[in-house]
Amino acid sequence: MINTYIPYFKKKDQNILNQCLKTNFVSTAGPLVKKFQENFCKKYNFKYSVAVNSGTSALHLGLKALGVNKGDSVILPSYTFAATANAVIYNNAYPWFFDCDENFNLPIDKIEKILKTKTYFRKKNLVLKKNNSIVRAIIPVSTFGKKLEFDNLMRFSKKYNLKILFDTAACHDPKIFNFKKNNKMHFCFSFNGNKTITTGAGGIFASNSKQIVNIVNTLANVGKKKSKYDYEDVGFNYKMTNVQASFGLSQLNNLKNILLLKKKIFQNYHEKFKNLKSIKCFFDPKNQNWVFVLIANSNQKFKSIKKLFQKAKIQLDFFWKPLHLQNPYKNFMREKLGFSEFIWQKVIVLPSHPGLKKTDQKKITKIIKKIHD
Ligand SMILES: Cc1ncc(COP(=O)(O)O)c(C=O)c1O
Repeated sequence: MINTYIPYFKKKDQNILNQCLKTNFVSTAGPLVKKFQENFCKKYNFKYSVAVNSGTSALHLGLKALGVNKGDSVILPSYTFAATANAVIYNNAYPWFFDCDENFNLPIDKIEKILKTKTYFRKKNLVLKKNNSIVRAIIPVSTFGKKLEFDNLMRFSKKYNLKILFDTAACHDPKIFNFKKNNKMHFCFSFNGNKTITTGAGGIFASNSKQIVNIVNTLANVGKKKSKYDYEDVGFNYKMTNVQASFGLSQLNNLKNILLLKKKIFQNYHEKFKNLKSIKCFFDPKNQNWVFVLIANSNQKFKSIKKLFQKAKIQLDFFWKPLHLQNPYKNFMREKLGFSEFIWQKVIVLPSHPGLKKTDQKKITKIIKKIHD
């Protein structure tokens, strides 16, 4: 089977894991979690971070630390992984679903127009007219690991007094984060097995705000701050383990190489597909870090590719299905979601892992070109 994603391990990953076993540090105790946090911060240009057991946990605690409370509303795209909305619901708040634009960004100008008619300010808080719920935060999502318009989104959130938590779960090219951040910008990453670098399962909350990071750290650590059985809060058992961190450290060391290998694959795909008319590349030549995406001009085309991929044992599934179309989320507030509904059955995520062989790339290319003709 040619999978969409498989982790990329080296002999060194095994050695570091063995070291963990030898020292008996396999739980959340152990020196490597702190080291992983430090190395992550150095590489991705953050001041502070908290390593946790999943990207979902990072989102959950991030929102909580930012003060998302019972009955609040949170702006997010419907075209995202369930965890983005679940994190809002875990905090007893309500997702407010918005469409994305053709570049899979939240369209700020359109959102502003909607806010003007549907909300008002009360004591500096943005409030929904419909139910008096405070619109507390916004979660921009990095779709396919793409670079976000961080500064524009920051300006927007400031104007409307919204907390901002960037869901950059799959955005693992450190150069994307090499910009000046203020301490109101907070970020969540995933290290799940299908991401560019992995800790098996795992995630990290990263920010330049010591205060917010301290809150997330306490919450992730069962509410403990200092001594073993003194609790400050009703916390969660969300910390990353030493074993996961050991993987994370060697993956971080190999990240440059992983990105280089992926770049070659993505450039090859782009070269082969850039002139197709009915299938478009969603490709940023400057930032390629997770998966290579094609957009078919019809669902029929997606189905035809899937059929031939299945025969050739190449994995292809629908990527995200907009959340507002699904049972657990269909009753939450939403705006017009025309683009999300139009696009989701046309998104083709090609096998994109760094170990993908040239012969497999050829097989994939041949099928796409055949369908196109
Ligand atoms: C956009 C987005 N947010 C959050 C997550 C959750 O991360 P995890 O699977 O590590 O909980 C994912 C995982 O794929 C994701 O794609």
